[in-house]
Amino acid sequence: MKTIIEPFRIKMVEPIRLNTPVVRDQILRNAHYNPFLIPAESVLIDLLTDSGTSAMSSEQWAGMLRGDESYAGAKSWFRFESVMRDITGMSHILPTHQGRASERILFELLGGPGKFVPNNTHFDTTRANVEHSGATAVDLVIDAGRNPKGRHPFKGNMDPSKLQGFIADVGAENIPLCMVTVTNNSGGGQPVSLANLREIRRICDAHGIKLYLDACRFAENAYLIKMREPGQQDRTVKEIVRDMFDLADGATISAKKDGLVNIGGVLLMRDDVLAERANNLLILTEGFVTYGGLAGRDLEAMAQGFQEVLDEDYLHYRIRSVEYLGEGLIKAGVPIIEPPGGHAIYIDAGSFLPHIPAEQFPGQALLVALYRHAGIRAVEIGSVMFGRKDPTTGETIRPPMELVRLAIPRRVYTQSHIDYVIEAMTELATTKEQIRGLKIVEAPQVLRHFTAKFAEV
Ligand code: F0G
Repeated sequence: MKTIIEPFRIKMVEPIRLNTPVVRDQILRNAHYNPFLIPAESVLIDLLTDSGTSAMSSEQWAGMLRGDESYAGAKSWFRFESVMRDITGMSHILPTHQGRASERILFELLGGPGKFVPNNTHFDTTRANVEHSGATAVDLVIDAGRNPKGRHPFKGNMDPSKLQGFIADVGAENIPLCMVTVTNNSGGGQPVSLANLREIRRICDAHGIKLYLDACRFAENAYLIKMREPGQQDRTVKEIVRDMFDLADGATISAKKDGLVNIGGVLLMRDDVLAERANNLLILTEGFVTYGGLAGRDLEAMAQGFQEVLDEDYLHYRIRSVEYLGEGLIKAGVPIIEPPGGHAIYIDAGSFLPHIPAEQFPGQALLVALYRHAGIRAVEIGSVMFGRKDPTTGETIRPPMELVRLAIPRRVYTQSHIDYVIEAMTELATTKEQIRGLKIVEAPQVLRHFTAKFAEV
């Protein structure tokens, strides 16, 4: 069969509302041209993020009712712990309310002034948490990962020679840990190969540096390894996932992605001494070690979700539907990061809108146009999210690409929704010269994309 169907049927529906471009124009003005400030009710198809937006399964909802809400040692905690240990093999499993809470604890322990943390590409909250600790975050993705067109199968890979050069430059004693983000969200949702993880591990070992995964999308990464890495085709995704974690000393995970839940996170580590310190911080701001800022029912939903995400029929459908969107956009002449990665399609807004210079935020301009035209909400991953002033020179630092991410929530939209998105972008492509740039009117110091206000130029 050519058609890869959604491997589930729909038991509950949530209406979405159509409105008109005129109404949406007013909504955009009220939201200061920032998609984070648009009320969700006014969005037809919401591709802002794949985070916390999954539809839960009937088994997850059943788990919600079974949730044991005991303060300490709840049954739901033991179930969650045993599932996570089985999948990852890690000795210490700390529940947190979401990924950035895991990051905050980790970098409070290992970061600090004078320290450096390399990553393939830091996600925004990861970078912000590294920097908040006083440390410096550095991105060392392979050059192919910054070229939107080349079809390298593992554009998320970290560059081993860049890592070696970096260690030589700043000194291994100043690098408490190296992180690898799977899949590489800020670099296009691109996977990292097992071979690359092994190589990075070898380099870290040679210098006594710990290796941590930012493993939010570990199952999608493993499935892409199965599809693309020589010799992995006959292995199960579960085996590949285990290989990935076996190469790491620990991991931060936002369960809002491959955990298939609406809230939750995990911090994993092997080091007993570090884990004790992490548990103390967990108790300080998240909660006791057997619930960590979550309800027992959340732990049940996570335990079930982390198992369901390893279902290869699900992953086949998941990866294929993202690829299908990518193929539709390429056919319409919309430049995207190729090949499509795990959870989203990234439009190369800089090339799509050559008439809008980087200082007028082509990515933000495109997502404003897409919302006005079709009620679709997306997010900018470019100069709005990552552009900032160099603290010493005062010059504006820009990211290598101006991207718009269409992130696909898990198990939420059907193929006809995706067809609608393709149609909307195809129409926009014919009138793209009319899209106008934007300027920032007001913005906070950190993570400005969430609340910045814009005006059209
Ligand atoms: N790391 C990566 C790679 C992420 O993509 C995210 C979140 C986080 C860490 C933080 O997790 O939100 O649970 O605190 N990414 C979302 C996104 C927000 O839209 O890509 P969190």
